[in-house]
Amino acid sequence: MSAHLSPRSMIGQVAIVTGAASGLGLAIAGRLTEEGVRVALWDRDPTGLAVARDKVGPASHGVVADVTDTKAVRAAWTETTQTLGAPSILVNSAGILGPSAAFANYREEDWQRVLDVNLNGTFRCCQAAVPDMVAAGYGRIVNIASVAGKDGNPYVAGYVASKAAVIGLTKSMGKELATTGVLVNAIAPSASETAIFGELTDAYRARLIANVPMNRFVAPREIAEMALWLASPACSFSTGATFDISGGRATF
Ligand SMILES: NC(=O)c1ccc[n+]([C@@H]2O[C@H](COP(=O)([O-])OP(=O)(O)OC[C@H]3O[C@@H](n4cnc5c(N)ncnc54)[C@H](O)[C@@H]3O)[C@@H](O)[C@H]2O)c1
Repeated sequence: MSAHLSPRSMIGQVAIVTGAASGLGLAIAGRLTEEGVRVALWDRDPTGLAVARDKVGPASHGVVADVTDTKAVRAAWTETTQTLGAPSILVNSAGILGPSAAFANYREEDWQRVLDVNLNGTFRCCQAAVPDMVAAGYGRIVNIASVAGKDGNPYVAGYVASKAAVIGLTKSMGKELATTGVLVNAIAPSASETAIFGELTDAYRARLIANVPMNRFVAPREIAEMALWLASPACSFSTGATFDISGGRATF
């Protein structure tokens, strides 16, 4: 496919964005649509999905899919392919924060749930996508990790571990697929003011940006710009990499 595309043209390509009913996924879906990409919005939330589809536009297609359900992910892949055509872009944005709890009190069922959405969900969607992308000789996979997966944050052990593991998965897949035309990269944002945090008190808001040298939240639109480049043919020599967008927070 890349041979037929100018370096930046993405018109007519098909993308899947998971977690597209809200926050970063919604912003990324909107940005891809602006470039002429036909986007399948995957989310477990049908109500949010309908609203998101109105925002993103009629060229998008909503698919109710829970990334913790392997059969649902496979069915969503088939539905997307039949409805929009073969996807060449997958953005894994579905994610949850889980509880905020001291490690000693962090419940095992919460640990399992957070890992199942954030890590195993990314694994399931990648597994659905990789065979067809490799067969086509072209693909761009963008995993939304977090700066928390590099730096760590207290009281959210499951979340931090899941995001560190997503970075590891990205490295493994990137190396393994490096010569196939399928590039796999991750984004590590610092805090962005989305629904993932629930209600934000002033104290919580201050804590979230305390470690950010630029002293503010990152806007979903800023993350969408980075995701757009990673999802595009212009990203041609980066794979297995994690790109920070953290206002100067991450140091390695
Ligand atoms: N907001 C931040 O500060 C921030 C920072 C770094 C990384 N991230 C990551 O970005 C991603 C998006 O987060 P956000 O801030 O947009 O949150 P959000 O809560 O606004 O959106 C998350 C979306 O994922 C969907 N989702 C959750 N579980 C799902 C499942 N099992 N199957 C399908 N969809 C599911 C939700 O319905 C929701 O629409 C997450 O992976 C998150 O960890 C967020």
